[in-house]
Amino acid sequence: MAKTESVQDTCVLVTGGCGFIGSHTVVVLLERGYEVVIVDDLSNSSEKVLDRIDQIVGDDAAQRLTFVRADVADKDALDAVFDEFQIDAVIHFAGYKAVGESVEKPIEYYSNNIGNTLALVDVMRNHGCKSIVFSSSATVYGDPDALPLTEESPKKPATNPYGWTKWMIEEILASLVVADPEWNVVLLRYFNPIGAHASGLMGEDPKGIPNNLLPYVAQVAVGRRDAVHVFGDDYNTPDGTGVRDYIHVMDLAEGHAAALAWMANKTGCEVFNLGTGTGTSVLEIIKAFSAACGRELPYVIEPRRAGDVTANYADCTKAREVLGWEAQYGIAEMCRDSWNWQSNNPNGYEG
Ligand code: UFG
Repeated sequence: MAKTESVQDTCVLVTGGCGFIGSHTVVVLLERGYEVVIVDDLSNSSEKVLDRIDQIVGDDAAQRLTFVRADVADKDALDAVFDEFQIDAVIHFAGYKAVGESVEKPIEYYSNNIGNTLALVDVMRNHGCKSIVFSSSATVYGDPDALPLTEESPKKPATNPYGWTKWMIEEILASLVVADPEWNVVLLRYFNPIGAHASGLMGEDPKGIPNNLLPYVAQVAVGRRDAVHVFGDDYNTPDGTGVRDYIHVMDLAEGHAAALAWMANKTGCEVFNLGTGTGTSVLEIIKAFSAACGRELPYVIEPRRAGDVTANYADCTKAREVLGWEAQYGIAEMCRDSWNWQSNNPNGYEG
């Protein structure tokens, strides 16, 4: 990040800022006093989220937000953004994220996720902005040999093109630092982000049938779908269903703010896990969501889903010790906020 007096002088470009994690992070940044420019092509998000951000942060803070509708791969559009704004740092969320779809459309996934990152860092370099926070994923750990996962745990071969894009972009960004020590790269490996803003104004709004567990469960709760499909009950876990480290999206958003504050005036490449350190099974999630929405949610046991790992959860010691960040919310609060969002917006932003 460029040398600045305070966050009030700091302008952050947030790619994919209208998406699920991006929008929640933008709220936190505006509340901290940052100036924020969102670049999003709305290919998998809604412009309506911008009104919701305004409602949450208030008009004064919202004045520090600019939205540019553009594809991050469009270098001319990015150039114009960097010409107009003195961007100090970038948080790069924009990318395709559906694991199953990536198997069907590898060219689109590699080209979009890797192509837009290369376009972005090229434009950044040309404008002398060399600070970037990247949305990586626990997927880079593959099927782990040992739990919990620390940042030292080995990266394993990905099982799908989406996972490979996260894997490769980490390598690409690390290479920038080797080539030019002025770069300042933070790789945040998210575990499973769920939940929603406590206001019920913002949340996850996947297009089509949700691939991920939580939005699917939430849509069953609201009556859009009949029953949760549990992918396998014969895993080597306490109840046989898959175990993941679910993290509240607001905790994740705070993690980005912590990373941004920490990296100011530094250089190098650092990796942080962002999770809670606690594993939760699919059946435990269904139970917790049932409690949150006040009715037993129906589910059916299905065969395992290809490519799923048995269990993963994070060791978040490094983020706590270095960034001073720690997740605050548990599963009950994640389900409460997710239900609050879904019940107030049964059809998402377009409802
Ligand atoms: N699951 C179901 N039914 C569903 C959806 C999921 O039983 O309808 C199960 C899965 O089998 C798994 C758990 O719920 O055990 C969580 O599945 P998600 O699809 O919600 O999340 P994943 O852990 O598979 O994927 C997440 C992110 C990916 C990332 C991956 C690995 O969504 O971006 O973690 O870190 F690549």
